[in-house]
Amino acid sequence: MSVIAETTSCAEVDAPVSTREPVPALLPVVGGDTTVPLVDGTQRVYANLDYAASAPALESVAARVTEVLPLYASVHRGAGYLSQVSTALYESSRQSIARFVDARPDDVAIITRNTTDSLNLLAGVVPAGGKVLVLDVEHHANLLPWVQSSQRHGNTTTILPIGRTVAETLDALRTELATQPYAILTITGASNVTGESLPIEEVVALAHAEGTRVAVDGAQLVPHRGFSLARTGADYVAFSGHKTYAPFGAGALVGRRDWLDTGTPYLAGGGAVRDVRADRTVWQPAPARHEAGSPNVIGAIALAEACDRLAALPAGALLAHEEALRARLVDGLGTIDGVEVARIWPDSADPVGVLTFTVPGHDPGLVAAYLSAEHGIGVRDGRFCAHPLLAHLGASGGAIRASVGVGTTSEAVDRLVDALRRYLADGPTARYDVVDACWTVVDDTRPLVQVHGLDALAATAAAACGPALDD
Ligand SMILES: Cc1ncc(COP(=O)(O)O)c(C=O)c1O
Repeated sequence: MSVIAETTSCAEVDAPVSTREPVPALLPVVGGDTTVPLVDGTQRVYANLDYAASAPALESVAARVTEVLPLYASVHRGAGYLSQVSTALYESSRQSIARFVDARPDDVAIITRNTTDSLNLLAGVVPAGGKVLVLDVEHHANLLPWVQSSQRHGNTTTILPIGRTVAETLDALRTELATQPYAILTITGASNVTGESLPIEEVVALAHAEGTRVAVDGAQLVPHRGFSLARTGADYVAFSGHKTYAPFGAGALVGRRDWLDTGTPYLAGGGAVRDVRADRTVWQPAPARHEAGSPNVIGAIALAEACDRLAALPAGALLAHEEALRARLVDGLGTIDGVEVARIWPDSADPVGVLTFTVPGHDPGLVAAYLSAEHGIGVRDGRFCAHPLLAHLGASGGAIRASVGVGTTSEAVDRLVDALRRYLADGPTARYDVVDACWTVVDDTRPLVQVHGLDALAATAAAACGPALDD
């Protein structure tokens, strides 16, 4: 695996993780004190280190949903009082979401399902014949929609290999952008594998110098750092509610209005049209043009609440909290022989709180199962829907990802470091085996939580592994 260890100051490395000041959660999240069963029969507060996949709801988001549910009614076409209240709430949520990413006055915010949905939508409105440029480090959500839309709309998508450094990658981008008129360059705001990013403002300047628009896959950046369309000059940003502490099924695409006003409507149906006759359809402009069908009103309100709550944090608080946790994790892992932290570029700055590592010689699925069963820690293992990047990192066999967010405390990070140290020193205490492509505890006695809907499953947590999906 081509791994470049993250550098930390000597003072930081020398300090044992456990003697550091505790880092509390930045905001309360629902489930922050939920306990889970361990294989030794005890219970522990769940150490959720999988925020990059889906983050828990902020308590304020849950409260907001509870508050507005009694007001919920049909939107846009309802004449009733509550329909009008719900419509106003939906439209004001759109404004909050746009404000959170510092949209320009003429930008448009479209409520989608998630980042994948947003990027598919955007890929479908690139003018016909448009050329698309994408790097080979992207999450599949920022790769496949562009390739697929090229096949459909006669556009072309070029997948550019990254350089060994940020500087080399910027040079490669500059050179490629000059070779032909690209309509759009689409880049990750922060890698879902390593948390790293390219300097977006520089990328935007390079692209704009050649008349190329820039879309930012903000799935990891927006919840971890916030984002400004106006300051970066990026043309579009896509992000997901369930990664932004609002797991109620909404996401957003925010950016330049022109392509969205005229591009092929993403979903055909009611609400997206002005007039329909047997022989012709007159579509609405954006955002309605791309929001056919009944919108996810509650999801949008939840996402807006999360956006408002994150925006109300003191300046720099989000960054400081994540940096403290990430540095603690990197330093802690750095003290363990046999753990290697992955980096894409040695010269990238300010990675977000998402970090991937391997334990060479040990299956990532086994390590992840051990962390869960014996320590109550939730991490992600696999290839993180970024197969080209994992191959580039020499980790096609998979890796382990730990990610933090506003509800994370240093206890979770320290627990992970301690658990990995024990794993390498003593090995797991339970026995593990692969069942249906999933590492599970042999003779698992952990009970499934008593909640409606799980009754039909077999009695143990092992049964909840789920179907094998794209890892
Ligand atoms: C960087 C990045 N882009 C896109 C996505 C897709 O997000 P969603 O599954 O919410 O559509 C993810 C999800 O993990 C991601 O991390």
